[in-house]
Amino acid sequence: MEFIKVTDNKEPYIALIELNRPKELNALNRQLMEEVRDALQQLDKNDAVRVIIITGNEQAFAAGADIKQMADKTAIDMLMIDQFSTWDQIRKTKKPIIAAVSGFALGGGCEFVMTCDMVIASETAKFGQPEIKIGTMPGAGGTQRLTKAVGKAKAMELILTGRFLSAEEAHFYGLVNKVVPKEMYLYEAFQLAKEIAQLSPVAVQLAKESINRSFETHLDEGLTLERKNFYLTFASEDQKEGMRAFVEKRKPNFKGK
Ligand code: CAA
Repeated sequence: MEFIKVTDNKEPYIALIELNRPKELNALNRQLMEEVRDALQQLDKNDAVRVIIITGNEQAFAAGADIKQMADKTAIDMLMIDQFSTWDQIRKTKKPIIAAVSGFALGGGCEFVMTCDMVIASETAKFGQPEIKIGTMPGAGGTQRLTKAVGKAKAMELILTGRFLSAEEAHFYGLVNKVVPKEMYLYEAFQLAKEIAQLSPVAVQLAKESINRSFETHLDEGLTLERKNFYLTFASEDQKEGMRAFVEKRKPNFKGK
């Protein structure tokens, strides 16, 4: 594992996955997400693990999918690579996943967090879907999960402007379970994990599956549409301009083409 660290001996029954590309604010490149997928598959099969915590570092949970890796791709490249199919493992994992978030959880980082089952946030956490600012849109569940979490009007505002939500605002909108001082977010995630890890893993997994079923009844359709539309933005000059401008550290000039 190059971009994540997995520890399963800190506390009984609890595994910790740390996203570990600190210089890039944990930007989620394809290899990192493949490592997450593989780790989740292994932990799901491991009887000694009952709850999984996923975290980044103090500065960032993750600042999104890796823009530099995507910037020059065509819509057909994106469709064929279908990078978000790897992400499906997060929602397919049977054991509960707690996201412990500090700093940036943006774009794919926010979508990753929303795919987890519970969220403990540091008071420094910032959530948002800023893809619109680089000429594209959320592609890993943001239009569906954010809307379900915060309601249509707020989701429209956040996704169409790219504005961020503070930890307190995210708590107000029900996106996170608890906001704690920045020294405490991982500790609190472990406290929650320990409480769940004492209970019947069978009942916990079945309850998780049932809750998700109520939430996801029509999600597949929405996710498929969103994914296609995200890949389709790569047919636009605006996506190229937006992502290149990010890489070149300048303001984008969008032309609607
Ligand atoms: N992809 C690739 N690299 C990224 C990145 C990303 N999403 N986010 C940050 N980085 C890199 C920066 O390029 C920079 O690298 P260099 O030092 O090599 O230049 C490094 O991480 C540190 O970033 P900044 O210097 O920009 O740090 P900052 O503190 O000034 O700003 C930030 C922080 C506001 C989070 C800013 O980095 C930013 O806006 N990042 C992009 C956020 C974004 O647009 N995310 C959505 C990505 S698309 C997506 O996620 C699609 C989807 O639906 C899955």
